[in-house]
Amino acid sequence: MESELKELASRLEQEISGLNLPSNPENLYQPLRYFLSLGGKRIRPILSILGADLFGAGYEKSKSAALAVELFHNFSLIHDDIMDEAPLRRSQKTVHTKWNSNIAILSGDVLLIKAYQQLCLQENRHIPELMRVFNQMAVEVCEGQQLDMDFENRSIAIDEYIEMIRLKTSVLLGCALEMGAIIADAEDESRKLLYEFGVNLGIAFQIQDDLLDLYADAEKFGKQVGGDIIANKKTILVLKAYALANPLQKEFLANLSQITDPQQKVEQTIGIFAELGIKEEVKKLRDSYFRKALEALDQINVPDQNKQKLRSLAAFLEDREV
Ligand code: IPE
Ligand code: IPE
Ligand code: MG
Ligand code: MG
Ligand code: MG
Repeated sequence: MESELKELASRLEQEISGLNLPSNPENLYQPLRYFLSLGGKRIRPILSILGADLFGAGYEKSKSAALAVELFHNFSLIHDDIMDEAPLRRSQKTVHTKWNSNIAILSGDVLLIKAYQQLCLQENRHIPELMRVFNQMAVEVCEGQQLDMDFENRSIAIDEYIEMIRLKTSVLLGCALEMGAIIADAEDESRKLLYEFGVNLGIAFQIQDDLLDLYADAEKFGKQVGGDIIANKKTILVLKAYALANPLQKEFLANLSQITDPQQKVEQTIGIFAELGIKEEVKKLRDSYFRKALEALDQINVPDQNKQKLRSLAAFLEDREV
């Protein structure tokens, strides 16, 4: 990440550690302190700050909306890890494995409410519109998460997958940016284009997430490598494999979900994916969404130099390894 963005991330990190969560009940707040202190890339609050910055509004104005976005994201991760039965997050135990699922549900809930408290610190004249876009996003994320689970048990087409990831992941990136635009009183057309930039960036981001889930370096990654395969998730890798396989290979793919030994399942999956050239195919799709995102950014009517930080963030996301 470029140094200016790194500085912004560490400034946000300080805001997060300065949130001053109460100490009691310990089983409610200790898991949150734990989870929030594990770091994370802090991409989404950076997007809110840069979205406002694009139209000339400074850090202090957008800060609480940025925090709201990051708190919402962390809430969604704590609950997502229960749903995905994930053991690891940010290189440490997930909340539901370190404590238990009931604790993870409730500490997630309180985090969601903390997000709204941050949003309410915005200027009164902006709050109704910020609430409207935030709530629409939050409902869509739930819809996406339900589709993600539904898809485990049925075959789906690529456009259904894209719609699912638009909902579960991309709208949050879009919303993060759009809130920045609202705070900066940007005009409607620019605001729309910025949202479009975020949604396409988010689709590329989730495709990269699916790639990393199988191909990341286990040391750096911080999540269980192969977790999606073990959980029979219909990621873009699986969909592309079915699309490219001959009848014999299709049968092999179908039999993979029956394998009970996780390591064997992951190894055999990697083998057939290599035979089919899946990694390269999926990268092409990912890059097509990065390009769409950058095209939307190009069209926004502000001086080109204002867009450099967003371009550099997009470039960082394109070849991230975590
Ligand atoms: C993980 O998001 C969840 C997805 C939408 C793929 P990040 O990869 O941004 O997670 P952190 O916040 O950096 O840990
Ligand atoms: C996460 O998708 C989307 C949300 C948290 C809403 P994933 O389930 O792929 O995210 P990771 O891989 O666990 O971070
Ligand atoms: Mg998950
Ligand atoms: Mg999930
Ligand atoms: Mg994932």
